[in-house]
Amino acid sequence: MPKAAPLSPPLSEAPGAVLISRPEIDKRVGELAREIRARYLDLDSPLILLCILKGSMFFLSDLARQLDLPLEIECIAVRSYEGKESTGMVELVKDVSMPLRNRHVLMVEDIVDTGETIRFLQEHIGQHNPSSVRLVTLLSKSSRRVRDVSVDFVGFDIPNRFVIGYGLDLDGLYRNLPEIRALD
Ligand code: IMP
Ligand code: MG
Repeated sequence: MPKAAPLSPPLSEAPGAVLISRPEIDKRVGELAREIRARYLDLDSPLILLCILKGSMFFLSDLARQLDLPLEIECIAVRSYEGKESTGMVELVKDVSMPLRNRHVLMVEDIVDTGETIRFLQEHIGQHNPSSVRLVTLLSKSSRRVRDVSVDFVGFDIPNRFVIGYGLDLDGLYRNLPEIRALD
């Protein structure tokens, strides 16, 4: 009997070439954790790490475990990409469910591309009257920026290539790749 076609290619057949290897990611995440800690040494309440779902889940879980600070974790979900193109329209899929008033919020993003998502979130989170809002992103495609957004901590500035892995997806797939790969 012929075998059924797999639903999606196995990870070993993921497209593209490795852009950032797992050891490079781990090293940089550790450095970011130390940079961030140094900025929050005088906290008056536990820091809130805001996971921007779904792309940031792996980055946040690694970063949080390297970050030697009292912290809480909250999630928010937005959508803007279809396939390899940003739609330019940011949609709130799931809002925060805890008060952010008078709290220090660090938004954790997988990648800042045009900046539309972050501009939307900075405004949205700002309406909750937090004490401070900062942003850490693992990746930045600064050459693609259309919105002038301030990014406090950047892991890697990358060229204008579509990337997958370590949380980043192509139509929902490949988030579980351990490294970051660039498509052609
Ligand atoms: P922006 O709103 O254009 O800055 O895009 C931000 C969001 O688009 C990110 O949070 C990602 O979810 C997605 N995105 C941008 N570039 C890539 C990419 O190269 N691979 C996968 N997702 C991406
Ligand atoms: Mg994202």
